[in-house]
Amino acid sequence: MSNKKDPQTEGMSKGLTQYGDPGFSLFLRKAFIKGAGYTDSALDRPVIGIANTGSAYNPCHGNAPQLIEAIERGVMLAGGLPMVFPTMSIHESFTKPNSMFLRNLMSMDTEELLRAQPMDAVVLIGGCDKTVPAQLMGAASAGLPTVQLITGSMLTGSHRGERVGACTDCRRYWGKFRAEEIDQAEIHQVNTQLVASVGTCSVMGTASTMACIAEALGMTVPGGASPPAVTADRIRIAEESGRIAVEIARKGLTIDKVLTEKAFENAMRVLLAIGGSTNAIIHLTAIAGRMGFEMDLQALDRMGRDTPVLLDLKPSGQFYMEDFHHAGGMATLLRELKPLLHLDALTITGHTLGEWIEASGPGFKQDVVKTRANPIFKEGGIAVLKGNLAPGGAIIKQSAASAKLMEHEGRAVVFENLQDMALRIDSEELDVTMDDILVLKHIGPKGAAMPEAGYMPIPKKLAKAGCKDIVRISDGRMSGTAFGTIVLHVTPESALGGPLAYVQNGDRIRLSVANRELSLLISDQELARRKETQPVVTPTAQRGYEKLFLDSVLQADKGADFDFLMPPQTSVIPKLKK
Ligand code: FES
Repeated sequence: MSNKKDPQTEGMSKGLTQYGDPGFSLFLRKAFIKGAGYTDSALDRPVIGIANTGSAYNPCHGNAPQLIEAIERGVMLAGGLPMVFPTMSIHESFTKPNSMFLRNLMSMDTEELLRAQPMDAVVLIGGCDKTVPAQLMGAASAGLPTVQLITGSMLTGSHRGERVGACTDCRRYWGKFRAEEIDQAEIHQVNTQLVASVGTCSVMGTASTMACIAEALGMTVPGGASPPAVTADRIRIAEESGRIAVEIARKGLTIDKVLTEKAFENAMRVLLAIGGSTNAIIHLTAIAGRMGFEMDLQALDRMGRDTPVLLDLKPSGQFYMEDFHHAGGMATLLRELKPLLHLDALTITGHTLGEWIEASGPGFKQDVVKTRANPIFKEGGIAVLKGNLAPGGAIIKQSAASAKLMEHEGRAVVFENLQDMALRIDSEELDVTMDDILVLKHIGPKGAAMPEAGYMPIPKKLAKAGCKDIVRISDGRMSGTAFGTIVLHVTPESALGGPLAYVQNGDRIRLSVANRELSLLISDQELARRKETQPVVTPTAQRGYEKLFLDSVLQADKGADFDFLMPPQTSVIPKLKK
């Protein structure tokens, strides 16, 4: 047994199990690990934990075994000892009631395993929508030197000569099927082409958005966001992640030195400039919250006014993640955004963001990342709305909305909850026209754990009549791969008695994205009368994780984190002026 290291703070000697005798605790730990064939010299190295989120239920992480092999190689080449351990893994399509319900649990799982097990740094393997947020939330709370490794996007497929990829095209083809434009045989055929390999969704959905945000935060190795899952580039990023993990373990470069106010402001700029997923606002708010920062949504909106959408990826544009990678990935985007960024923000490489943009070279001609002079969309992808229908705010992805519907007043067609919508949305009896506004209640954090049901289907009779978009409003979320004039995250939510709970069929609603307005056109007295006569019952549960969730989940503007996981707020961001 070596006595070279402080028995409490490094390597295998860290975080000893409490038997009342630290010497015995270390003796016992080494006895057990030697049972797996390790030598003393291996056990004296810096220990790098590798959070393995590979799971048969998570095809977005289907390359985890190859990534782990490469991370281990990187760790060992740099003189560290890799230790792979399992954590929860969450896939969007394999979790009931929805993946958001489990995000905070995964963050707790990650945090506690990072705390409980001896490691000097950790590489987190994340990719599918909720995994990267959960890992960064947990790691932010645990405070170790941390590297985020992204699994990478899937490849695109081909259907009858047309390039397709999950999941913007999944929704587009399903919309065609609902409108009876394509038949059962064709929808079955396209189903085999939408996901052409393992990896995350191939458009700028939540997974790709969080990958870009992780890199903008400085939490991945340079170029870590864009390589597709099944490429040699992705494997090299994994090896480099292992090497960097040993380096930051030796330097003691803990996560709080990277996740600073400046890093979060950079991430907000990137979110706006990539036309990123609305879900990322909630996740970024939650990660910032773990560091003691409060996101100011109104300030995000102001940033949006001078941050153009530059990235031409679906659903706001036309390309896919693999095209972004071929166009140089994040280096190309960050180079163009330079005047809007805090270039002195530190990254896990030990260099600043500005230094690594410089190191990435001059760039080259490509079509995927536009210039600020010639953007996809003049303003940022996301606008923040306010009004008597959303006193705590709501958001709309304007880059994926229909221009003609962004200034719209219409009659409310109300669904009380998900079940009500499922029962009536396709009924021929539904009283709805293309000029109406669909309202869906009780899909907020406490109402239904915020499912991605804010992207309500176009009522079948309108779809058959050629309707491609209609204004939709809810307190839920939508997939980052979805598109349409869709107002989300209405706060406070209806299950807490927010004004959305009192909207009735036939009410008039005004949406003005130009004025950032979302108004229910009834008097204050009428709203107060409805609150009085129709009190809302907030859902509760008797036991288990559901009880913890319903007792503790915060609203969307607080990142839907659990109240007891957030430290006291120390600072509001963005506060730093560019
Ligand atoms: Fe995993 Fe889309 S379902 S990233």
